[in-house]
Amino acid sequence: MTVHWYPLPSRDDATGAATAAFRAAFGREPDGLWAAPGRVNLIGEHVDYQAGLCLPFALPQRTVVAIATRDDDLLRLRSAQLDGSGDTWEGRIGEIRPGSVPGWAGYGAGVPWALRADGFDVPGADVLVDGSVPLGAGLSSSAALECALALALDDVAGLGLATSDAGRARLAAACVRAENEIAGAPTGGMDQAAALRCRAGHALLLDCRDFGATQVPFDLAGAGLELLVTDTRAHHALVDGRYGSRRDTCARAAASLGVTTLREIPGKTLDSALAVVRDAALDAVLADELCRCVRHVVTEIDRVTAVATLLREGRLREIGPLLDASHRSLRDDYQVSCAELDVACEATLAAGALGARMTGGGFGGSAIALVEAADTQTVAKAVADAFAARGWDHPIFLRAVPDTAGERLR
Ligand code: GLA
Repeated sequence: MTVHWYPLPSRDDATGAATAAFRAAFGREPDGLWAAPGRVNLIGEHVDYQAGLCLPFALPQRTVVAIATRDDDLLRLRSAQLDGSGDTWEGRIGEIRPGSVPGWAGYGAGVPWALRADGFDVPGADVLVDGSVPLGAGLSSSAALECALALALDDVAGLGLATSDAGRARLAAACVRAENEIAGAPTGGMDQAAALRCRAGHALLLDCRDFGATQVPFDLAGAGLELLVTDTRAHHALVDGRYGSRRDTCARAAASLGVTTLREIPGKTLDSALAVVRDAALDAVLADELCRCVRHVVTEIDRVTAVATLLREGRLREIGPLLDASHRSLRDDYQVSCAELDVACEATLAAGALGARMTGGGFGGSAIALVEAADTQTVAKAVADAFAARGWDHPIFLRAVPDTAGERLR
């Protein structure tokens, strides 16, 4: 059984390829190139939109944008990652509205729209999108695109936001608005923070009450460990309603508890909160659904705190059981896993992983496993074998290494 790996991204190759593709698409030279990373969320899943805590880190895999400004208000977007139909969109920035930009282009077109809505004067531009963040793998290719373009527009318009963490938080907020309002994905903000605010060798402890961020050392190599990512290649999309319905359920549960978000429910009061939610629900089915959501969010936030503490103390191996508990909670209570993600986790654990869980929005996408560095290949092969035994398409792996946030490449 062949084990498939994503190639290690090379900055020089990415720069050369995007420049050549820009020339071919637009017949001129780009003003520059900017890139932003995909992310893995170590733990803290489906809690960002409930003002919770999450712990993502940036990947070496990046989305690159080559751009040149224009004198008019036109935005021309072209993707070198999509071949053929739907790879190009153009329109006037002043005419972009919720619902007016179909498909992937909404993630790009939303960015100048959101920056202008925030009062920043950004110009029309020709934009070529390329890069190495796998699409639809739950590794946040959409936020990588938004954030690379936000960095580019910040730079060419001289906004100066990218030079400080506070400025980057503002860019991230504009990208979230672009994603929510123009692309129509009701996501929570973790991914954009990761793409713009992470530091190499660290995970980002993000408090989504105010998007305050703390860098937590995460030295996998120093501990002799690796984090294996399995892209199950099962389809993952956040605009199909299932993500939004979980978010709505949380909002209903919070309302029945009389709080704005479930973050306000401390873990030690979980049982009494569940009793209140159960009593307030109209029927047993709804009571069960609301209670499962509350239990996931409240327990997951506590697990993030526990993992961050272990990382700070250098006790990396001990986070394994917390990763497992997170997966069970997402699978059984929150119900956002799928057969491929469950099999990936089970196979990695059976092959000796210290802990495993789905990462990102779920319903397909990727799983992570914490493994002894010497075991990575064996563990990956065990997953590939488990997929083959079920007749599924082969997964693709990568070793996740905490890298830097987005930046200008050239
Ligand atoms: C997606 C969303 C994030 C977050 C995760 C789940 O990645 O974009 O905002 O909600 O799912 O943790």
